[in-house]
Amino acid sequence: MKKLAAGNWKMNGTTAALEEMRVLLAAHPAPACEMLLCPPATLIAQAAYHTKGKALHIGGQDCHTKASGAHTGDISAAMLKDAGASHVILGHSERRADHGETNALVKAKAEAALAADLIAIVCLGETEAQRDAGETLALCGNQLHGSIPAGATAANVVIAYEPVWAIGTGRTPTLEQIAEVHAFLRAELAKALGEDGHGVRILYGGSVKPSNAAEIFAVQDVDGALVGGASLKAADFGAIVAALSAA
Ligand code: 13P
Repeated sequence: MKKLAAGNWKMNGTTAALEEMRVLLAAHPAPACEMLLCPPATLIAQAAYHTKGKALHIGGQDCHTKASGAHTGDISAAMLKDAGASHVILGHSERRADHGETNALVKAKAEAALAADLIAIVCLGETEAQRDAGETLALCGNQLHGSIPAGATAANVVIAYEPVWAIGTGRTPTLEQIAEVHAFLRAELAKALGEDGHGVRILYGGSVKPSNAAEIFAVQDVDGALVGGASLKAADFGAIVAALSAA
């Protein structure tokens, strides 16, 4: 599997922001890694239209468990696929916190994503209190086994380890801490999925920026990044793409 540089725009970006995708592709038309941007749902169809056939995948940030129905305000995986998305982020800590998403719900959403032929990016990670209490690996293991969809393979699932305390704070774990969690997740994936578990990409997310990307990408079992703030600007995300391509 190629490494993956993924950007999560969260609730940021109007049509003017599509220009960042054009600039990114102009600078990185054929990177050695895969590139993915997940803009807000309102931009997915336009983004996918403008990047069709190019080296930039477009993804969603959430989906419903059902394909359609009476669920005001929600978007199904099939709708994301129809709009041109290839991936969907699921179980982001902001959704777990803001919308009370449980592991079981994230798993059901991920299964809906696979059924719609989307690649599911399943997020997990500890809070600062959980890390301080020495619960990081147990928590990450619970989230992994509880959230991973039935039918997961190296091709249709990506894991993103995002320590909650590192998101949007400018703080990152030490490289040893990142290595410890990624090695643990790799072993747990191998237990759950056998041979495929060795191929599932494990992304690191949380305050990744151009200045720290290369050292993070040198860590064993870091197969890419899920980038928030630094994915909003083509120059910053492009520098992260370049660092991953060189890793
Ligand atoms: P930041 O890169 O802004 O810390 O956000 C990380 C994140 O939550 C990506 O999903």
